[in-house]
Amino acid sequence: KNIKIIEVKSEIGAGTRGASLGVDAIKIAALDFMSNFFVHFPTEEIETENKLLFEPIESPYAKRIKGTHTLYERISKSVCDTIKQNWFPVVLSGDHSTAGATIAGLKIARPKAKLGVIWIDAHADLHTPFTTPSGNMHGMPLAISIAEDNEDHKVHELDDNTLRMWNNLKNLGKISPKVLPEDIVFISLRDYEKEEEHLIKKYGMKVFTTNEVRRKGPEAIARSVFRYLSDCEYIYVSFDVDSLDASISRGTGTPVSNGLREREAEDLISKFMQHRKICCFEITEVNPTLDRENLMAEIAFNILQRSVNVLMMN
Ligand code: ARG
Ligand code: MN
Ligand code: MN
Ligand code: MN
Repeated sequence: KNIKIIEVKSEIGAGTRGASLGVDAIKIAALDFMSNFFVHFPTEEIETENKLLFEPIESPYAKRIKGTHTLYERISKSVCDTIKQNWFPVVLSGDHSTAGATIAGLKIARPKAKLGVIWIDAHADLHTPFTTPSGNMHGMPLAISIAEDNEDHKVHELDDNTLRMWNNLKNLGKISPKVLPEDIVFISLRDYEKEEEHLIKKYGMKVFTTNEVRRKGPEAIARSVFRYLSDCEYIYVSFDVDSLDASISRGTGTPVSNGLREREAEDLISKFMQHRKICCFEITEVNPTLDRENLMAEIAFNILQRSVNVLMMN
């Protein structure tokens, strides 16, 4: 596969500041390891909307949703063009909100093909502006992708502008939904709210816990995942670094205990990357301002490097 790197140094979807520095922290990790990894690949940097961080928040239940929509248009176009030009997009992003745009780009590039998603994350990211506990858009990308409102569990009333922007996000590219809930697999999911749990149960969404990964090992898990997604024609892997255990993921905005070990994540992800249906890989939520040394970015770089090595052999 021919790799192209897409950099999204955005953090407007997170509640903690610093994730926009994650991409550069991963590059610093490469330099510290004396690796020339980044020399080898064409790179596109997406223009951000981080200036909005200095402005007052207009939508408390979907913070900076207008800027998020602007990013969604830019990112989805870039991912779509990358696919159409027969490159394999590796997306390095700041906060996870923009993964919904990656998914949109993949779907817009091949509207007729059934898309599967492997979501490696402590969180389900299935909130909507009607249910969010934080208003942070990085808790919402999968709800956007499956075009879910979860209105029967409504906690908040939305103003017209927020509602219009939310609908625009779900309908980006005039395809909605981009992916079906049954075509999403969660890995190491362990921190979610009851409104998200309701959706997981309602749709019978597939979850592999940290313990299952540990017990069965990467090969067996990968086999189960691809069997489960066997009717999908191509598959996107989203790696939120907070899937890793809190003991090593200090350098991310929302660390959670009972997560994966570095080696478990690395082995599992490189197993995923061997599969011919994998069409895109994303690493997200590295926040070096919270870290000791640059540990989180170093782990992310190791996983990136090994994954890309596998992708290039396939
Ligand atoms: N569920 C929480 C929220 O909506 C946390 C989401 C964390 N998401 C992430 N991509 N780190 O605020
Ligand atoms: Mn996430
Ligand atoms: Mn997360
Ligand atoms: Mn299916």
